[in-house]
Amino acid sequence: MIKYKVNGPTVLNGEVEISGAKNSILALMAATLLAEGKYEIDNIPQLVDIDTMSQVLETIGVAITKEEGKLLLETSHCENLEAPYDLVSKMRASIYVMGPLLAKYGEVKVSLPGGCAWGPRPIDFHIEAMKKLGAEVTLEHGYIHARAKKLKGAKVSFDTVSVGATANVLMAATLAEGTTTIINAAAEPEISDLANFLIKMGADIKGAGTSIVTIEGVESLNSINYTAIPDRIEAGTFMVAGFISKGDVTVKNVNVEHLASTIDKLEEAGADIDVSENSSDVNKSSIRVKYKDGIKPIKLLTAPYPGFPTDMQAQFMTMLCLADGTSSITEGIYHDRFMHVLELSRMGASINLEANTAVITGKEELAGADVMASDLRASAALVLAAIVADGYSNISRVYHIERGYDNFDGKLNKLGASIEKFKE
Ligand code: UD1
Repeated sequence: MIKYKVNGPTVLNGEVEISGAKNSILALMAATLLAEGKYEIDNIPQLVDIDTMSQVLETIGVAITKEEGKLLLETSHCENLEAPYDLVSKMRASIYVMGPLLAKYGEVKVSLPGGCAWGPRPIDFHIEAMKKLGAEVTLEHGYIHARAKKLKGAKVSFDTVSVGATANVLMAATLAEGTTTIINAAAEPEISDLANFLIKMGADIKGAGTSIVTIEGVESLNSINYTAIPDRIEAGTFMVAGFISKGDVTVKNVNVEHLASTIDKLEEAGADIDVSENSSDVNKSSIRVKYKDGIKPIKLLTAPYPGFPTDMQAQFMTMLCLADGTSSITEGIYHDRFMHVLELSRMGASINLEANTAVITGKEELAGADVMASDLRASAALVLAAIVADGYSNISRVYHIERGYDNFDGKLNKLGASIEKFKE
């Protein structure tokens, strides 16, 4: 098992290049199933989740070549319309192949994903939405089997905002007959990126990035070359790291608009933030985050975009463990996403959990300890805590980090952290 041995506290200083957005790229990769041909997707980080999606697509019949920072995909031989259990159970986003395969080939089998480290994370919205578009859906031996000769445009309304279900409908509706309207659609930047990718392929989509999206089905789409947006969660994680280490860190190649709620909350907590927007390419902007005079307590509620992202909740909890007073974090999306609370407590944090709200009493310092990562963002939060804590911390199960952070230890060490990766 790979572990991190972190020696703290260290102060982080310098510049860090932010990679392409994992959550966007996973959807873009699935969208390539909508048209036969050759694709090139740029700004690709080295991540286990991207390798898992590659395996899902290869199982279907896509030929994939990885080049430095690029993925080349050839989708002309998709003959196995199935996402198997061993891959879907590793990564829920495998369900993204459902919409495109159904729309293009009229049939798909996707394994039900099963459990997750926090909460049930159901996929009922995806299934109901495909039925709305005219698919016949049955559950067979742990698999969703969906069929439709030709999908038909429909009004698809979600009670709760879902990134994944919005993405699946968006992809499916591009080749459906007639008009599809998504009501209460997710407005996350990754959805806008997917819509831009599909529009470049020839899709007719209006309103992406708002809560109502309209898609006019077209006869066919074309393969394209595309560059993915920067990863706002990776950027936010490094911004928090720079601030709480009492350092001065600049994140490069970011989109400032995508980080608005993170910037707001960091400023409220007392960070000194300097934004340099690049007007010729908004995805190549920079943000400098400096520590000034302490960390102020804040109240935080996670919510769909443009609200504060649930994927930044754990990292902010680490920050608030060191605030000068009492803070609260209410998890508005995944009510059980608090696996990191007990681990942070082992490092001396004072956190009380009541239903989906954590009340955090700030401490002067955290203490290094042996802790266990439970999921991707919780792992990042523990690494940040270990960087600022006094003494050594051993963090186990860091394979979670490699699902979503490219060279996390290397990038942090370049800024001044002391992280040793070892096998045990
Ligand atoms: C995506 C992101 C994940 C992020 C999450 C919320 C990817 C690959 N993952 O996950 O990093 O934390 O958005 O921003 O992009 N729900 C249902 N039924 C469904 C689908 C969702 O009840 O069929 C509920 C979920 O339990 C949750 C809420 O809807 O409470 C939002 O989940 P959703 O936006 O779908 O998350 P994912 O797309 O899985």
